[in-house]
Amino acid sequence: MQKILVAGPTFPDVIERLKQYFEVDWNQGNALSGAELTQRLADKDGALTAGELINAAVLAAAPRLRVVSNMAVGFNNFDMGAFNAVNVLGTNTPDVLNESVADFGWALMMAAARRVVESEHWLRAGEWQKFQYDAFLGADIHGSTLGIVGMGRIGQALARRARGFNMRVVYHNRSRVAPQIEAELNAEYVSKEALLRIADHVVLVLPYTRENHHTIGAAELALMKSGATLTNIARGGIVDDAALAEALRAKRIGAAALDVFEGEPRVHPDLLAVPNVVLTPHIASATEATRRAMANLAADNLMAGLGEGPQAGHPPNPINPDVLGKARRS
Ligand code: GLV
Repeated sequence: MQKILVAGPTFPDVIERLKQYFEVDWNQGNALSGAELTQRLADKDGALTAGELINAAVLAAAPRLRVVSNMAVGFNNFDMGAFNAVNVLGTNTPDVLNESVADFGWALMMAAARRVVESEHWLRAGEWQKFQYDAFLGADIHGSTLGIVGMGRIGQALARRARGFNMRVVYHNRSRVAPQIEAELNAEYVSKEALLRIADHVVLVLPYTRENHHTIGAAELALMKSGATLTNIARGGIVDDAALAEALRAKRIGAAALDVFEGEPRVHPDLLAVPNVVLTPHIASATEATRRAMANLAADNLMAGLGEGPQAGHPPNPINPDVLGKARRS
């Protein structure tokens, strides 16, 4: 039997599925340190990860490893150059989370614009004395302009939701989407700078790459409307969190909502100190159904990549399909 590492806690029935084909080393405890991960991968043929860093050094110390399956759509924790250099297959879990993540993006955007969390804290603190005409005045969603940065599958799911709120939708992406998709979504392609100037609500849903590091920093925040909101459901590092905290403190923009952070699970202390930001712990895809779908898809990818199960040899979501069938190099 081939050996696999499941690097963190997951649904027990997914582990049972994997046990039909593999000897499973399951870390049910806290996050593994880099050294622990390296040590536990030393004799493994495959691994199921959820954000653990897999780079050249980790791969070099795991000479049998052939497939690493990430339970996430984003895979910036994988150094794909290093994977390709030694013919290790990486897989991810796209699509199954699109609608849940778009729902949550909407929830965060609305919570920020309408000050849901801030006002709830005030109520719990016993501050509410009477109805006040000017308590927690926020920004409207309906009839406003939504700016989507990153028009992939999740961006498109966000844009579809804007219809019901009668919003104008502008977007920016590496490349323009097909004209029929633009027409269907009623979305206009604009430069990043134009989007930041026009949008009342900016939502970030682009993948993290070196080029996308600090896509939103002080200069970009300076372009935004004074009452605008910024929502990040993409990845930490796309926003310069320190610059955002300063813009929020200075009320340069209206509010923000963040599900992902630079260096998470740490959160920049300046963000914790400002009231006009909603902070959630990387849960945009966290519904029971979607997290189950992601875990099962990650297991399918791992099985198939290692030549087991009904899809043996044909993993549904290879990131680097060119390495399929090639011998592992050291
Ligand atoms: C979660 O952040 C994912 O990339 O799926």
